[in-house]
Amino acid sequence: MLRPLLAATVATVPLLAQRFEPQPPAFAFLQKPPLGLPAMPLPEGYTPTAAMFELGRELFHDGVLSRDRTVSCASCHPAATGFAHRDPLPPGIGGQKATRHAPALWNRGYAPLQRWDGASPTLEAFVLEPIGDPREMGHDVPAALARLNAEAPWRERFQQTFGGPATAPALQQSLATFVRGIVAGDAPYDRFVRGDPAAMTPQLRHGQWVFESKGGCWKCHTPPLFTDEDFHATGIGVQNGKAEAGRAAVTKDEADLGKWKTPTLRGVRLTEPFMHDGSLATLEDVVEFYARGGNAHPELDARMKPLDLSADDKAALLAFLRSL
Ligand code: HEC
Ligand code: HEC
Repeated sequence: MLRPLLAATVATVPLLAQRFEPQPPAFAFLQKPPLGLPAMPLPEGYTPTAAMFELGRELFHDGVLSRDRTVSCASCHPAATGFAHRDPLPPGIGGQKATRHAPALWNRGYAPLQRWDGASPTLEAFVLEPIGDPREMGHDVPAALARLNAEAPWRERFQQTFGGPATAPALQQSLATFVRGIVAGDAPYDRFVRGDPAAMTPQLRHGQWVFESKGGCWKCHTPPLFTDEDFHATGIGVQNGKAEAGRAAVTKDEADLGKWKTPTLRGVRLTEPFMHDGSLATLEDVVEFYARGGNAHPELDARMKPLDLSADDKAALLAFLRSL
């Protein structure tokens, strides 16, 4: 009896792993968001098209937007690592480093504000900013547009897609449409919630319980996006007793000192290192960080308290996080 049972278990593990691998970006987000995710809100007066998505995909992966053509969006946001970068601070133009960790881009089309401190009000506004950032692409938008219009293959791509030359709005729409197509859902959790009790193993159920009860993680990493898209101080980014400004740099409100946007936990097994400064190397480090109640911080969120987690609780929580 035991043998076939064991064989069946072993055989289903790799199958399950494959089945829940996040899907490559696709324009299908419009017609059919992945299981568990709501319809994506879209700015008024914008009708994304498959052609915009394809042009956005090409631009995202090409160095053409950077001054010396060495840096593309994908240099800092490679798909293989969940569109996040393996370096705590990713390399930009001329061997410089960005000032923050390059975050995962899953489901960012749902986010009302972009950047760790929410400084960019919309995805359209944000996507042009890396081009002009002296540490990232070291270019400027008018020069990038002039280059796109001077090179026949790009000029033609814009003509086909927008019926005219490359303009700032056309560049914004194509890049933003591609980023909106980077979606992740349809995890065991989503299948379980939609009524498939076999979708989650007992360990994943245990992990979900820790996430929701003892851990209180859901209060900020709220399903189904696993972020409340809000800003909180967890104690990351305090150097020599002094906290980085975080959200306060934008709002000029002292109460926002050291608050950073809650990142999504979708696809988190691919996106180490973690936090806005990439200071926690592994998911295990993140779980230990929360277990001790975060780091000391003058504005520490009231929800950050030492957690009473057993070794089993931690292992189950890690398995749950990796399954999202
Ligand atoms: C040199 C590395 C680098 C390059 C190149 C780069 N990014 Fe980023 N990206 C980052 C960093 C770092 C952040 C976080 C910035 C912040 O919080 O201030 C970020 C943030 C983002 C965000 C916001 C995500 C969120 O959760 O707030 C999006 C969307 C994004 N990048 C898309 C792009 C696109 C599109 C391009 C190309 C036009 C691009 N990036 C080029 C490093 C880079
Ligand atoms: C008070 C709100 C809050 C609670 C509660 C909370 N988090 Fe977070 N979480 C955040 C914020 C904010 C960040 C980003 C902090 C930064 O970058 O400085 C974060 C970052 C993370 C990251 C890093 C993701 C990335 O892409 O860098 C992981 C993983 C994570 N949290 C897991 C958890 C787990 C597991 C729990 C429960 C044990 C939890 N969080 C509880 C707000 C919270």
